[in-house]
Amino acid sequence: MDDARDDYADANRAMWNATADVHARASLPKLLERVAHPDFSTFDFVEKRVFTRLGLFGKDVAQPSCNNGRELISCKKAGAAHCVGFDVSEGFIAQGQALAQASGVDVTFVRTDVYDIPHDYNAGFDIVYVTIGALGWLRDLPEYMGVVARLLRPGGHLFLYEMHPILDMFDAATGLEVKHSYFRTEPYVEDAAPDYLDTDTVVEGTSYWFHHKMSDIIGGALGAGLELRLFEEFEHDQSEVYAAFEGFEKKPPLSYALLAQKS
Ligand SMILES: C[S@@+](CC[C@H](N)C(=O)[O-])C[C@H]1O[C@@H](n2cnc3c(N)ncnc32)[C@H](O)[C@@H]1O
Repeated sequence: MDDARDDYADANRAMWNATADVHARASLPKLLERVAHPDFSTFDFVEKRVFTRLGLFGKDVAQPSCNNGRELISCKKAGAAHCVGFDVSEGFIAQGQALAQASGVDVTFVRTDVYDIPHDYNAGFDIVYVTIGALGWLRDLPEYMGVVARLLRPGGHLFLYEMHPILDMFDAATGLEVKHSYFRTEPYVEDAAPDYLDTDTVVEGTSYWFHHKMSDIIGGALGAGLELRLFEEFEHDQSEVYAAFEGFEKKPPLSYALLAQKS
């Protein structure tokens, strides 16, 4: 890992641990109750459709940047086999373990930077599932797609369901006013920003967000040897940050789903 990436990764990890402390107070207690329900699921209509197409039942699933693991617990409750979540934050890994225990399902959580996922996991999964707010914290997308590809078995799929990178051109607070170039390469730097779930609480620390063009995302998957199977853009927001954009008459795409297969 080069020094610059080390610095970005260290700062982002500290910010995510501070965020985990906020979420432990703001949202974890309710979530611990919700996951205990046998029908607990975070899947929306896109995830239900894609997982039906892939046949989630009996499949081994990895989720890099799994946060508190609620989506991976949903996979397990929907019949997935071995489920492993990877996240850089100690705080969120601990919450994932607590949520798995409360939900009564067996899900493994590993604290690691995605770039350092141990090679023991190579070719261990049928599905690599990546959701909302994962890619922007990662500086090197081609290397990341290489990690995804090595985790997949031949025939396995990357299912990426993310916020649309065009949103990086706007400021959620000021709506459709273009603030940044779509071709921006320098990271967005944020200091002491409000938490995205508990907006009354400020999360201390500096964080770095990296804009990745859609062509870099698709090109990264293709470059890692994956074959594109599905690509869709949606007018719904998954992030909550851009929820107001759903009400605009003229709106940019707010989210997308990409399915790519390892041959
Ligand atoms: C917005 S959250 C993902 C949210 C998840 N989709 C969900 O809804 O729960 C981003 C997650 O990425 C993790 N993360 C950020 N950089 C990472 C890295 N380099 N390696 C592993 N995890 C990372 C953070 O700790 C955080 O839990």
